[in-house]
Amino acid sequence: MKLSVIGCGYVGLVTGACFAEIGHEVVCLDINKTKLKELSRGNIPFHERGLKKIVLNGIKNKRLSFSSSYKKASLSDIIFICVDTPMGSNGEPDLRNFYNVRDSLKQHFDSDKIIVIKSTVPLGTNKKLADYFNKYTLNKNYMISVCSNPEFLKEGDAVNDFMKPDRIVIGCDEENITLIINKLYKNLNIAKKKFIFMSPQSAELTKYASNSFLATKISFINEISRVADHIGADMHQVKDGMGSDERIGHDFLNAGLGFGGSCFPKDLAALNAYQRKNKISSGLLEQTVKVNSDQIKYFIKKIQNEYLLDLKNQRILVWGAAFKPNTDDLRESMSIKAVKKLSTLANHLYLYDPLCRKSKILKELKNLKNITVLDKKYSSDKRVKCLLICTEFDEFKELNFKLLNGYKIFDGRNILNRNKVEKNGIEYFGIGT
Ligand code: UDX
Repeated sequence: MKLSVIGCGYVGLVTGACFAEIGHEVVCLDINKTKLKELSRGNIPFHERGLKKIVLNGIKNKRLSFSSSYKKASLSDIIFICVDTPMGSNGEPDLRNFYNVRDSLKQHFDSDKIIVIKSTVPLGTNKKLADYFNKYTLNKNYMISVCSNPEFLKEGDAVNDFMKPDRIVIGCDEENITLIINKLYKNLNIAKKKFIFMSPQSAELTKYASNSFLATKISFINEISRVADHIGADMHQVKDGMGSDERIGHDFLNAGLGFGGSCFPKDLAALNAYQRKNKISSGLLEQTVKVNSDQIKYFIKKIQNEYLLDLKNQRILVWGAAFKPNTDDLRESMSIKAVKKLSTLANHLYLYDPLCRKSKILKELKNLKNITVLDKKYSSDKRVKCLLICTEFDEFKELNFKLLNGYKIFDGRNILNRNKVEKNGIEYFGIGT
């Protein structure tokens, strides 16, 4: 089938390249021509495992192309909208990009089209768009149908999530349209039960509810981690004990610095904003957000309690800048928040991240004077005697104890084994461990 994907950001590029990989002919549109030029050569602007390979594959077999022409993109019968919907000032997503796409496309329409919303949009947007097109096409001889097909792609594993999804949610009131979208995914050869058909409103809410639930699970376990610190329990054991109940499960029960990224904070804010506006909030999701922002303060307090007035003399090594491992994404990163705060409290910080470019980190830190970004894991500054782990990259689980002689380690992701670290004469501080 011929498809267009509007927006070559993280979601659009993964979606377009994966659809091309499973046999469709895909045009990916973006308004940024420099980006398109790079993409046409297979240069991906961010780190995402396996993406470059399928982009190059798609270009080579001519199933994947890039364009900035809305006229060209409007020729496909099925058009996915994948533009970003950033958080607006009141917590509601900013839909300017989304509606610009609608307006740029519509002037080229002259036959039936299916618009598929993959961008995460406020509840009720599908209906608004469908109503708009119903009016717009009133005296025209074609129809525009609107369908919601939310993405559930995890950064760092997005290609795999597309190819082997837990579920594909299709939200549409028109049965014939639902069947067409269902067919698009046929070549994934996944079980029938993984397709879940529902109303557009339910599909929109499923997306928000899924991310808000996972974020709440993290805030819940972080709340418990503070109780564990108080009573002297160990969150590794508590996680195991809780997660072994199949109804609870082990996933998203890792206590730590809390969640970041481009989705959880934004989606929680959007759902919160909807609830507030419609006066249907109990405060649960607001509390999820509060626990998350308190968690970073709690971690910094631990460091302050340990060093007291001497913190201002400390030179600190920090591992991890990204909001999670296997990505170079710094958006809403807890590590960046910790580093910014500590730069006001300590003498100097050395920051190392295995994937993120130095220039990108420095830009994010607005060139704070007392931070050095390293291109290796350990600092050669002998005055450094404190290590903070902020992102759970696998390579941080392996330590060179000789190089860490005399250090204190603050493990913000609970990835190290306390006994092993302490056996090597190093003081260890986890979160609820
Ligand atoms: C999320 C959803 O998982 C995905 O389905 C959705 O469509 C996009 O948003 P992503 O933002 O890539 O994906 O990150 P995810 O892997 O879910 O982790 C989010 C944050 O939670 C990270 O900062 C991570 O470090 C943190 N986290 C995760 C914890 O603190 N503890 C856990 O147990 C799990």
